[in-house]
Amino acid sequence: MKKLLQLTLAFVLAVSLTACGSDKKEGEVKTTVIKIAFNQSVNHPQYIALEEMGKKLKEETNGAYEFDIQPDAILGDQKATAELVQSNTIQMSVVGNPILENYNKDFTAIGLPYVYDSIDHQKSVFESDLLDDLFTSTSSSGFEVVGAFTAGARSVYSNKSAKNPSELSGQKIRVMQSDTMVRMLDAMGGVGTPMAQGEVYTAIQQGILDGGENNQVTYADLKHYEVASTFTLTEHLMVPDLIIANTDFLSGMSEEHREIFNKLMDETMEKEFNLWEDSVDSAVKVAEENGAKFVKTDKKEFKENCFKLNDDLLKDNEAGKKLYDDIRKMSQE
Ligand code: GCU
Repeated sequence: MKKLLQLTLAFVLAVSLTACGSDKKEGEVKTTVIKIAFNQSVNHPQYIALEEMGKKLKEETNGAYEFDIQPDAILGDQKATAELVQSNTIQMSVVGNPILENYNKDFTAIGLPYVYDSIDHQKSVFESDLLDDLFTSTSSSGFEVVGAFTAGARSVYSNKSAKNPSELSGQKIRVMQSDTMVRMLDAMGGVGTPMAQGEVYTAIQQGILDGGENNQVTYADLKHYEVASTFTLTEHLMVPDLIIANTDFLSGMSEEHREIFNKLMDETMEKEFNLWEDSVDSAVKVAEENGAKFVKTDKKEFKENCFKLNDDLLKDNEAGKKLYDDIRKMSQE
């Protein structure tokens, strides 16, 4: 029922947004409004970085383009908004890497557990040209990846201790919607349960789940500490958040505007990385004030199991395996 309501809402909004048209006249300038779906709050570093990009884009294109960012998953969960981008109902969305594995399995390689050793390692990969071909590979589906954000390191949280695979055994932990994520959590000892982010709080509250796995920012933002107060620092996954954009919309830009857009996107990625660490500190503070406990753990066993899984997942995927090896080679450890 809830899903149906969400779908209806997304549909009504999408229709009303389209009905408004994406072009509007401001004085003599025709402004194209770029509608962007975002599944988190306006306090999130990714929202702040994108909002600033929108302002600069408007300035630097002399009002030819502006952003209309819809936060809090108003337009639906990430899977649904990727489809809205495909059909150009909206022009852009921020989606977790696992969503794109459903379009091209090579994306698996850049979102595997423990593939990045640190945020700096991840940043150097995003800033290199290593991912260029992967990011345009979805154009046959009607969109491309135009940028990548960090979402820090994800850890497991529940009401129980989860310091090693045997402690995690039997715990139903929500994961993002892809087979890789389910298999990852299973390899870590628990029971991976795929679900959209917006449904997790209630599912834990009702005992359908024991917990979830996410970064500290989302954990605090969505108040998951109210239903799962033990955050065990497994730091198993640094999954990229990808900014996707419709291909017709992109090819409709003049060369000059596209250059401005690309330059601003680079600056936006840089800004988001810079904001991330402070956001984690504030999130931990808020969660602790509300009773959450952050527990350190030895990651050895989790790592061993996950590295085995990574080899298994990539064994029949030559391109993915090469990407994975290239990312590991860029490790600064
Ligand atoms: C993080 C990530 C989101 C993702 C979410 C999730 O918050 O930044 O892109 O949707 O996790 O677990 O679904």
